[in-house]
Amino acid sequence: MTGPILIFDSGVGGLSVAYALRCAYPEAAFCYACDNAWLPYGVRQDAELTARIVAVCLAAVEACQPSVLVVACNTASTLALEQLRSALSIPVVGTVPAIKPAANLSKSRHIALLATSATVRRPYTQQLIDNFAKDCRITRVAADGLVVEAERWLSGNPPSQMRLNALMAPLWQATDDTPPVDTVVLGCTHFPLMLPWLEALSPVELNWVDSGAAIARRVGQVSETFNTGRRDNRSFTTATAKGLQAGLADYGFSAPELLRLKS
Ligand code: DGL
Repeated sequence: MTGPILIFDSGVGGLSVAYALRCAYPEAAFCYACDNAWLPYGVRQDAELTARIVAVCLAAVEACQPSVLVVACNTASTLALEQLRSALSIPVVGTVPAIKPAANLSKSRHIALLATSATVRRPYTQQLIDNFAKDCRITRVAADGLVVEAERWLSGNPPSQMRLNALMAPLWQATDDTPPVDTVVLGCTHFPLMLPWLEALSPVELNWVDSGAAIARRVGQVSETFNTGRRDNRSFTTATAKGLQAGLADYGFSAPELLRLKS
């Protein structure tokens, strides 16, 4: 099937993935769908969240007719990739914490995983750690509040230094441990949007690793037919989001349309 690349997230986090995809495939057409009515996903119960993710993605696929779905959300991917793949006939590319590249990079062998409270405790995440970072100490930092800050920022409200420092306190502390954290996995797609602030506030220099480039590579492997030259770049939300219009436009998306879910 030929069509745009559909990017899905709970909110604006997928825009960090959209940026990586646009860099890799500048000619491709994109659609963006976010479930802002249910945000933040990180504090939802697994069973209801799985059903919701499948329902929103099915509606978004119907609206966009994409050639590939990119689940640009670690919280959704570590939970519902299997269900999405069985429900859809197009390739589905997930986003999971970049534990492997972080382990390749870390010299101190102490890595921090900065993600939602759901992602830090998921069996999928533990499996990644067991497979790729067995010899590393992992400090899990759940930062659901940073998702909220990123949403506010994309609606035009810069974050306060005090709030960010409070959210990041466990991470800054771990940079003082023995051995110190030297590498941080940005295990939530909202967080690369906040990177300039995180870098500025960090007490030490750190490696910050996200999944954007790996997702772009994977999209190229599973689908070669999205490059239609048709630049529709529509965006969809599940709740009205006037404040997001400018943020979406910065990433090349049109004003959001309301996505209708089948009841
Ligand atoms: N952007 C999402 C992720 O990568 C989650 C944000 C949320 O909690 O809704 O995990």
